[in-house]
Amino acid sequence: MKVGIVGAGMVGSAAGYAIALRGGASEIVLVDKSEALARAQAEDIAHAVPFAHPCQVRSGGYERLEGAAIVILAAGVAQKPGESRLSLLSRNAEVFAQVIEGVQKAAPQAMLLVASNPVDVMTEVALRASGLPAGQVIGSGTILDTARFRWLLGDHLGIAAQSVHAYVLGEHGDSEVLGWASARAGAITVGEFAEQVHAPITEEVRARIDEAVRRAAYRIIEGKGATWYGIGAGLARIVQAVRDDQRAVLSVSVVTPLVEGVEEVALSLPRVVGAGGVLTTLIPDLDPSEAAALRASAEMLKDTALGIR
Ligand code: LAC
Repeated sequence: MKVGIVGAGMVGSAAGYAIALRGGASEIVLVDKSEALARAQAEDIAHAVPFAHPCQVRSGGYERLEGAAIVILAAGVAQKPGESRLSLLSRNAEVFAQVIEGVQKAAPQAMLLVASNPVDVMTEVALRASGLPAGQVIGSGTILDTARFRWLLGDHLGIAAQSVHAYVLGEHGDSEVLGWASARAGAITVGEFAEQVHAPITEEVRARIDEAVRRAAYRIIEGKGATWYGIGAGLARIVQAVRDDQRAVLSVSVVTPLVEGVEEVALSLPRVVGAGGVLTTLIPDLDPSEAAALRASAEMLKDTALGIR
């Protein structure tokens, strides 16, 4: 499967690197307004291929995207220290107008995988600009927040993050909702699991984990200027689910007809992802406070998206 990546900066190149290491594509093409950057990133990733799986890694203009099954949209500006994801909207919405025109000329049928922030509203921008079916315009959404939540819960419970089934819902951003009520480990609630391993999830633990998930990007950006490894791996995970028709349940963002009373809004819920993109959307168990927070997140995203239509 051929994967295109528009935007060869830290996120786009990290996604290309993660896809190459996973053997997620037979060909990866990087496109960037800086041809030199795209060429250098492609060559650097290509040098990792001999340690991983056979894969062609190239760079070039939009025309090189012809035949791509998925195109990752990672172009645009990234958060600066202390800057919210939503504050990037006007700059990145402008960038997307040209990017999607170029992609669709070369690969009109390609599924779009949106990484640029604010990713939920950018997913809606990409859907409206592309005219593709909603399930084929996927935002990385809270796939990374969910990973952070699982990592921190696993660390507290002393188990692998892969054995924690918990999701972050709503905006990939400050209004996101950690799904504590539906969180499971070992087929029991994380609260019950925690009691059995004598690591109770107290209000303090819950508040610490919530803050650590919600503020992770801000913290990392303060230290190294941007985040890229986690999101790169998350994008590669989505690509793998599509390429192998895995029907994996992933918290990704698509324009959703109705969420907690809000119509036509892009945000993250657990979704079944396979060869056709998002196949099914699941509504997790929410306690009243989580349902109210999800509604608030959806309403905020809806208002933000209306502001740029
Ligand atoms: C983060 C960026 C990808 O959360 O929004 O690290």
